[in-house]
Amino acid sequence: MVEVRVEQLCTDPELYIIRIDDGKIRYFEATWDIPEGITYNSYLMKLKDAVVLFDTSKAEYADLFMDALKKLVDPKEITHIIVHHTEPDHSGALPKVLEENGYRAQLIGTTFARNLLQGFYGDKVVENFKVAKDGEEMDIGGKTFRFIAVPWLHWPDTMITYVVEDRLIFSCDAGGGYGIPETIDDSDEKVVEEYLPHVTKYIVTVIGHYHKYIVQNIKKLKELGIVESARMILPGHGLVWRKNPVRIFEHYERVGAGVPTKDKVLVIYDSMYGFVERRMNIVIDELKKLGKNPIVYRFTDKEVPAVSDILGEVPDSEALIIGASTYEADIHPRIRYALFEILDKANYEKPVLVVGAFGWGGVAGKKIETLISRSKFDLVDTVESRGMPTQEDEERLREGVRKLVSWIS
Ligand SMILES: Cc1cc2nc3c(=O)[nH]c(=O)nc-3n(C[C@H](O)[C@H](O)[C@H](O)COP(=O)(O)O)c2cc1C
Ligand SMILES: [Fe+2]
Ligand SMILES: [Fe+2]
Repeated sequence: MVEVRVEQLCTDPELYIIRIDDGKIRYFEATWDIPEGITYNSYLMKLKDAVVLFDTSKAEYADLFMDALKKLVDPKEITHIIVHHTEPDHSGALPKVLEENGYRAQLIGTTFARNLLQGFYGDKVVENFKVAKDGEEMDIGGKTFRFIAVPWLHWPDTMITYVVEDRLIFSCDAGGGYGIPETIDDSDEKVVEEYLPHVTKYIVTVIGHYHKYIVQNIKKLKELGIVESARMILPGHGLVWRKNPVRIFEHYERVGAGVPTKDKVLVIYDSMYGFVERRMNIVIDELKKLGKNPIVYRFTDKEVPAVSDILGEVPDSEALIIGASTYEADIHPRIRYALFEILDKANYEKPVLVVGAFGWGGVAGKKIETLISRSKFDLVDTVESRGMPTQEDEERLREGVRKLVSWIS
């Protein structure tokens, strides 16, 4: 189901959120399974002699967005549109808004944003585009708008806006998450607790490839002194942060840096006929004996977990154990894909134990070993053997887990 929510966030300045709750989407960016859905947040600020729109919505919901917008303002009265990021989940409805605005509004964004908009929607859309340089301030409706570039959060075009007098941070993708929270803001702790794992999943799947920039950019914002004192952080997806605005950026920092949750070990494997599974049961048993908390994702003939969920588990794991069977002289296809995405989106310095099973010639273990050795992960050991695990295999597997655990501590 798709719904639109419009709420006034404050009276001074007069600020509204237009939130499209997309419960219809199944695969964000045509890739990431999100049964939890997503919201696209746009904001409208009415000032003395200016009406400012911060981002828009997806093209698919342009009509819904326009109807909601018209309840707040005549689109012709919009004087400025701030384009923080041009990915079409935020810019898709822009051509429609401009059309109904009569192309009166001035667009503000980075040079990159201008070029991307032109590529997506043509020349007319960028006719009245003002480039904002990193750190540049503009007076709009009697307020100081400071634009700060946050490249790769999520694209090279991305910037945030800081409204100086009101200490408001409009952060678009940065600070966003998947899910359709019941509330608009972070006032309800239960809602926040439920929402944060969706934020982690969002960070890894959407921005994970650039995760070092998360840490860099948040450090940059902190050094500017705007985070600690922010009155509200207003992202382009999910909750608005006003009870404890710092919390969302701190969460981003932890995910970006891969800060582990004590004792969490992520275990991922495929098993077609149960041979890998026998090995993994030994591994899981040893992990538990050593006081660890294994989080297990298995690909079998009955279960196929979503790779996006697996990705969301990586940043706060202490270590990973990957089990795979050899399949046509290669890694089993499900693990091949999961591993490819882990190494691309969730590439962290964490120890990994590799477990393999084969019929006539082991390939999976060695291939995974090679891939791991080229990544940031540290290979602790590879335990690969044929068919049914023997007593000796069991001893090697338990020894492998002990090595992994001693690597952590
Ligand atoms: C479709 C398929 C392809 C396979 N390809 C290979 C292979 O190329 N080399 C090999 O040594 N074993 C191969 N095997 C055998 C499995 O790797 C072996 O039986 C392993 O123990 C499977 O563990 P699992 O049942 O837990 O998946 C293949 C098995 C299947 C079903
Ligand atoms: Fe984006
Ligand atoms: Fe987005």
